[in-house]
Amino acid sequence: MSKKQIKLIVNGKEEIIEVNPYESLLKVLREYLGLTGAKRGCDYGGCGVCTVVVNGKAVYSCMYPAIKAEGKEITTVEGLYKNGKLHPVQKAFIDANTVQCGYSIPGAIMSAYALLLNNPNPSDEDIKEAFSGNLCRCSAGYYWPEAIKLAIKYMKQRES
Ligand code: FES
Repeated sequence: MSKKQIKLIVNGKEEIIEVNPYESLLKVLREYLGLTGAKRGCDYGGCGVCTVVVNGKAVYSCMYPAIKAEGKEITTVEGLYKNGKLHPVQKAFIDANTVQCGYSIPGAIMSAYALLLNNPNPSDEDIKEAFSGNLCRCSAGYYWPEAIKLAIKYMKQRES
């Protein structure tokens, strides 16, 4: 199968790469661009550790064909860290004690980021729904809703 050249905008930077039509966005991010924040877990859309944000929406990058991302804005967990500072969502996840084995946290952070991007004042139900596609095998996931609430507080402090 012949490769196709595509343009992606990853964390604000234009990237031109050649991909095979069947390659996933996860593979491109990790193996071609060296962005290993998105993890490979189940590889079939069942765990959420590969979650990134494409045009403002959280997606499973393992299931997302790279060619479908052509011309789209992709944000990975690496892209949230700017000018030497953690994004409020990243800081909140750390402060809310959600860092344990560290495997599921990048995906959970990206789901939280996408939620707050689209809904700055989510209800408990919205928060539950936002994490419905993210699994955590240790107990860190228990604290994710608390991390969202802390992130909202940090974002408000940043604005004031
Ligand atoms: S690795 Fe993508 S959902 Fe599990």
